[in-house]
Amino acid sequence: MLEKKEITICLGSSCFARGNKKTLQMINNFIQEHNLAPYVQFKGGHCFGQCSNGPILKINSSFYENVDSLNVIDILNDVFEGYY
Ligand code: FES
Repeated sequence: MLEKKEITICLGSSCFARGNKKTLQMINNFIQEHNLAPYVQFKGGHCFGQCSNGPILKINSSFYENVDSLNVIDILNDVFEGYY
């Protein structure tokens, strides 16, 4: 049984303006393309108080810093290894 992952993307104004708007779309596309919907709870979050290291993405209890629409694919491939 594959573990369900909780992904929270920071939608605080700093992270949103600096790239998470696009990253949000990339994550949604990735989930669809790989049929991961049953294994993901994807939601937006408020500012994590780490704006200077943002854009921020949280997956389960891990925080990812300086996320952009390109490196998010590497992060997701890593996190979902073996899921598709
Ligand atoms: S807006 Fe994302 S950490 Fe502050």
